[in-house]
Amino acid sequence: MIGGLDDVVAAETVLSDVDGIAGRLIIRGVSLDDLVHSRYEDVLSLLLDGFFPDLSGLPEGLGAARVAVFKHLASVDADLLALTPIEAVRALLARLPDGDDLTTALHLIAAPAVFTPGIIRLRSGLAPIAPNPGVTHACDILAMMLGKAPEAQQVAALDRYLVTVADHGLNASTFAARVVASTQAGLASAILAGLSALKGPLHGGAPGPVLDMLDAVGTPANAARWVEDELARGERLMGFGHRVYRVRDPRADALKGAVELLATSSAIDPVRLALAEAVERAALAALKRKKPDRRLETNVEFYTALLLESLGFPRATFTCVFAMGRTGGWIAHAREQVLGGRLIRPQSRYVGPKPQQAA
Ligand code: SDX
Repeated sequence: MIGGLDDVVAAETVLSDVDGIAGRLIIRGVSLDDLVHSRYEDVLSLLLDGFFPDLSGLPEGLGAARVAVFKHLASVDADLLALTPIEAVRALLARLPDGDDLTTALHLIAAPAVFTPGIIRLRSGLAPIAPNPGVTHACDILAMMLGKAPEAQQVAALDRYLVTVADHGLNASTFAARVVASTQAGLASAILAGLSALKGPLHGGAPGPVLDMLDAVGTPANAARWVEDELARGERLMGFGHRVYRVRDPRADALKGAVELLATSSAIDPVRLALAEAVERAALAALKRKKPDRRLETNVEFYTALLLESLGFPRATFTCVFAMGRTGGWIAHAREQVLGGRLIRPQSRYVGPKPQQAA
């Protein structure tokens, strides 16, 4: 049985520092607090700096990459639409060639951003909308999904989300991407590994089930009872707990800030926000009672759920939106591994049966 490698330092990285005790996230020397007002393109340049020869035209290159990958949506058939959105995005992304250059990297970063809105529309019987390379990444994603120009605060909210989830140390999906990159398989292979790991409900598959939880609770008055019953059944509460953070995930407040921004423009139903806050209070109190020796705090996924719902993303696509941001981090880690690392190959201790002695 492989343990969770808890607290094992498996790599040195210049990309991000996740301080689980202080509850602080730093990306290439800049704290999350100072990044949350940036465009995703700017944080991408920060992450990729030094890993490709010339990043000067990154925003334009990303726009061109969105246009370039759009053609793959023409291959979507009924079988692919029958998959879950993250499986469909993975299948389409598998059509992209491997490589280690910036163009390959930008196509991979553009892929979930273009495929997700396209799949959302195709699942609704609508034609995909072509990308517009003349607008920002977050603006284009929303326009391709909504079929109209998004409001400025919607773009700002999506940018804040993409920046907040762009990179986060050696989480499961990033570790998977680094292992594949270390064999020199190429960036597309590394991203496919990261995407597959992200899909799991213990990792990036949690935000959709957070909404299912809110729907099941229904009203603030029902929150305490529902949470107690769920924990009594041995279930986990989606959006709470973290392998590294022993205090509140700093990203939870960054994203709650975006939710409150949208609430001021009534893009968020205040009743829904009040329900979420009641469920959060009830969950934290119950987890404290049930696991007094383990700090289980709100993680990045809880307010992600309300934010992405208010932007119009179907909950089944929340993991795809997570991938839109995290692909930048996976690319940076893959390049760091290839340029400065070696093949990742740990040891294992054999505890199986011994060979039978010859009679
Ligand atoms: C992400 O690593 C990263 O950086 C990940 C991430 C990123 O940016 O890449 O931050 C993104 O993955 C956030 C987490 C999203 N997942 C969820 O919200 C799902 C619910 N959370 C849990 O499943 C859990 O908290 C994990 C998986 C996130 C972390 O679990 P650990 O560190 O492996 O802890 P554990 O499973 O060993 O739990 C310790 C105890 C257990 O009880 P016992 O078996 O010892 O009795 O705490 C319990 C757990 O059952 N527990 C919970 C709980 N989380 C832990 N009980 C109820 N609800 C929870 N949410």
